Amino acid sequence: MEAARTAPALVSIGSASRQTHFERIGGVEPITRLVERFYDRMDSLPEAQVIRSLHPADLTHVKLVLVAFLIEWMGGPKDYSAQRGHPRLRMRHMGFPVDAAARDAWMQCMRLAMEETIEDSGLRQQLEQAFFKTADFIRNQQESHHDHHR
Ligand code: HEM
Repeated sequence: MEAARTAPALVSIGSASRQTHFERIGGVEPITRLVERFYDRMDSLPEAQVIRSLHPADLTHVKLVLVAFLIEWMGGPKDYSAQRGHPRLRMRHMGFPVDAAARDAWMQCMRLAMEETIEDSGLRQQLEQAFFKTADFIRNQQESHHDHHR
């Protein structure tokens, strides 16, 4: 209520919502840096060892695909779909066991990569929420402590 009465807040909310995340992050180059830092974290964080082992030893191709996907996901050019078809991320991850721990490890790598490469903390928070929704949607395993109920 308080913020809604002040015109500058409305103006800045308005301009933020008209811009895509792709525009706000600054285009292809910052997304490339984000993905680079993300996989560096996956390579080095002990908590990420399990999800790192699901990926190929050479990450060159995976990096290029994630960059193309994120460009499109953030509202930029749709080269990913043109090259690889509809993302169908849940389906594409079905071959990999993704439980809550895997989701959280992925998010931890991404959160740290965002902290290193995105200055705008509001944008970081919005992207973190969007990443979490996607990561949780991809989850395809119940936690092991539920196993004895099956
Ligand atoms: C939740 C934990 C996640 C795990 C464990 C995981 C793991 C993986 C693995 C192992 C691959 C295959 C790499 C390869 O051999 O080509 C992959 C591909 C991919 N992942 Fe994830 N991922 C997760 C979450 C996400 C999220 C949240 C996104 C997007 C925001 C995402 C986007 C992608 C994309 C775009 C591909 C390539 C799909 C294609 O082949 O076109 N992943 N992921």
